[in-house]
Amino acid sequence: MQAFSFSTTNTILNEPGGAVRLGEICAGRGARSVLLVTDAGIVSAGLLEPVLPGFEHAGVRIGLFDRVEADPSDTTVLQAVATAREVSAELVVGFGGGSSMDVAKLVAVLAHPDCGQSLDRLYGVGNVRGPRLPLLQMPTTAGTGSEVTPISIVTTGEATKVGVVSPVLQPDIALLDAELTLGLPPRVTAATGVDAMVHAIEAYTSAIRKNPLSDMLAREALRLLARNIVTAVHRGDNIEARGNMLLGALLAGQAFANAPVAAVHALAYPLGGHFHIPHGLSNSLVLPQVLRFNGPACPELYAELAPIIMGEDFVPGSNVEVVENLITWIEGLIDVLGLPNRLRDCGVPEDSIERLAADAMQQQRLLVNNPRPVSEADAAAIYRAVF
Ligand SMILES: NC(=O)c1ccc[n+]([C@@H]2O[C@H](COP(=O)([O-])OP(=O)(O)OC[C@H]3O[C@@H](n4cnc5c(N)ncnc54)[C@H](O)[C@@H]3O)[C@@H](O)[C@H]2O)c1
Ligand SMILES: [Fe+2]
Repeated sequence: MQAFSFSTTNTILNEPGGAVRLGEICAGRGARSVLLVTDAGIVSAGLLEPVLPGFEHAGVRIGLFDRVEADPSDTTVLQAVATAREVSAELVVGFGGGSSMDVAKLVAVLAHPDCGQSLDRLYGVGNVRGPRLPLLQMPTTAGTGSEVTPISIVTTGEATKVGVVSPVLQPDIALLDAELTLGLPPRVTAATGVDAMVHAIEAYTSAIRKNPLSDMLAREALRLLARNIVTAVHRGDNIEARGNMLLGALLAGQAFANAPVAAVHALAYPLGGHFHIPHGLSNSLVLPQVLRFNGPACPELYAELAPIIMGEDFVPGSNVEVVENLITWIEGLIDVLGLPNRLRDCGVPEDSIERLAADAMQQQRLLVNNPRPVSEADAAAIYRAVF
């Protein structure tokens, strides 16, 4: 067996209704003042209503930064850091989807009184020195798994999505409360759920750091996600399906935090950067064609996943047949979920394909994990096939 390493968030609390205990949990960690990082959509959906009285009861001061946007910018991170300093935050809570949780990670570093680094020094792999403030993440989408990953993605300049990857960003606590996801709109549920499935699929075929623990987590994540995504999208008030999706997304996050994602994400990021297509939808758009491209490189791995993903629809056959059936099944799923499957239907003009392909090549951090090397011409061909 090959040597491998595996890290994850120290404490995982799975408590339906647990939002009311957030203040108490922060107090238990010794915090007297907390910055809660979230977005305006979450506030207007009323998700903070069960949370705020808990802080008052626990005697913990709460500062609110609710201006995170989808695909958060470097400017937003710096504004949130300023708010954290204003309230002398001793702990940071990320409360929302990947966008809010990713901002919270960087705030925990940059708002620490002893931080000697600027944001632009953090970009890339392994550049964060720490220390940082304690960090608790509360996901309200079942998608990114950011509550258990050492990764934060920010948008710099006009359209470039940059990753900060460092063990220092690994959160201390993940608190899952499925009740927070009951009102997640169908389209967001679908896109974020496919994102989580992609995390597990790409972790399972990751070329470099795939290991027995990431494999186990990816398989169980896919079992939960594939069995529950349709119910979660079409019957959003089903708490059982919501809980399974939230846990599935967390397990997928643990998998890809240790066996990183690859070409689906590398080709998805330019779509988010240039056209503000939500992260999960960008992944969903390119997923089937990237799987077709990768299929010949590791048919046995996709064939291992096929019965887990397809459940009762799985039909045995040669690896090549099974992989093609799996891809067709995933295309059918994307359709059932109501997600568009063509770039042209998402505001992407055909003459942007060369630019998208060139930008995808910038994501070498991800492409090195792909089971098959991807050239710029390959990337352009994949975008063209999805156009
Ligand atoms: N850190 C990582 O490991 C990692 C991994 C994948 C993606 N990402 C990043 O995460 C971001 C995407 O995160 P996301 O897909 O979770 O979306 P998001 O955080 O951008 O949220 C999407 C929308 O859903 C709304 N919303 C969220 N929860 C809700 C709820 N429970 N009820 C009603 N509305 C709700 C929000 O208000 C927002 O408008 C991207 O920036 C992406 O690059 C990070
Ligand atoms: Fe993702």
